Amino acid sequence: MGKPVGATIVRDDTSEIVFDNPDEALAQGEQGRIAFQFAYGSDLLPPAGEPVTSMWRYRDLLPLADGPIRYPLAIGGTPLLASPRLRSKLNAPNLWLKDETRTPTGSNKDRATALVVESALRAGNTTVTCASTGNVAVSLAVGAAAAGLRAIIFVPAEVADSKLTLMLLAGATVFKVQVGYDAAFKLSRAAAREFGWYDRNTGYNPVTLDAKKTVALEIWEQLGREVPDTVVCPVGDGPTLSAIAKGFDELVACGATSRIPRIIAVQAEGCQPLKTAWETGGPLQAVEPNTIADGIAVGDPVSAGMVLRDVRKSGGAFVAVSDDDLRRAMETLASNGGLLAEPAGASAFAGLSQALDSGLIDRAERVVALVTGTAMKNLGEARPSKAAMTISADLARVRHALGL
Ligand SMILES: Cc1ncc(COP(=O)(O)O)c(C=O)c1O
Repeated sequence: MGKPVGATIVRDDTSEIVFDNPDEALAQGEQGRIAFQFAYGSDLLPPAGEPVTSMWRYRDLLPLADGPIRYPLAIGGTPLLASPRLRSKLNAPNLWLKDETRTPTGSNKDRATALVVESALRAGNTTVTCASTGNVAVSLAVGAAAAGLRAIIFVPAEVADSKLTLMLLAGATVFKVQVGYDAAFKLSRAAAREFGWYDRNTGYNPVTLDAKKTVALEIWEQLGREVPDTVVCPVGDGPTLSAIAKGFDELVACGATSRIPRIIAVQAEGCQPLKTAWETGGPLQAVEPNTIADGIAVGDPVSAGMVLRDVRKSGGAFVAVSDDDLRRAMETLASNGGLLAEPAGASAFAGLSQALDSGLIDRAERVVALVTGTAMKNLGEARPSKAAMTISADLARVRHALGL
């Protein structure tokens, strides 16, 4: 059984408040981002030598009481890919890709959904809510449907059509909110308070951090219980990155390793409020997002303080990638790695390529880039460099076209 024994709130200015009682932190949650702490020790980690097939193998580090898991979808145990062709193309022999496209709805959001829905079921809630740029919403719609819960979802009005259709197919009630994601987030939170719904919002609900930290725990196990030198992570609202940092911190706290990896945070050039705050050292200035990567199009990130703290603590850095970089990364991942990623899902790989070229990451480092979302849901204005050829059904045409 995983039982939080304390909690920290990280404010926007990166200062921290430490609580002995997790409930007190939850009561003061408006002050910043909450992270639970556990009674760390090696006994909280699963035994070595077992296959990494499910997120629930880390349940002693999840805020979850004993009892059977009722969440019905498979979750966790995503592949860590060596991808020989990408290693050779990038001349990075120790590159790994954590393939989070292999989940029920094709994004890393499914981990948080699993724990949220499990928690809601145990608490007897029948309605769950979230705001989302798209992937969280699809994930919650599908996860709630599988568990028999009602999902009420708030998305920005410009949400990708393919994602909206999937939410509706899964039976969710969806509100398209004018003005955008930040307004949708506030509305969803207010509605949860007013109507007593279970609030999945990652920027608020700390169980989402614990669920998403299992990516770090899996990477450690999949590397033979070793920590990589560097992890490259996309940043929209920020919890994906902070969860990775929390996972590695907890491995240190449990005595599994003595060091954490450097974390390189990737934002879009058209939406880089955190990178700007990092460089100026000043308070975060919200921006109007302008990028094809909807998952990281967050102009006023909820987890700003926590992300800045985590990148600093890891000795990491920020990079920003252009829409063209994202399109190129999607094509390289697909054509050399067999990995279909949406723009936000390919952003860490785009950032990695840039960081290798600039020397920020050494080519010999053991580096893991997260691939966080599948292209199947969102092709994101991909512009492949190849075009299809239209021909008559004639073998001679094929021979001619291929120059054979
Ligand atoms: C595919 C994808 N990658 C990365 C992110 C960024 O995650 P976070 O908002 O936790 O920073 C998102 C968020 O929706 C996403 O959908």
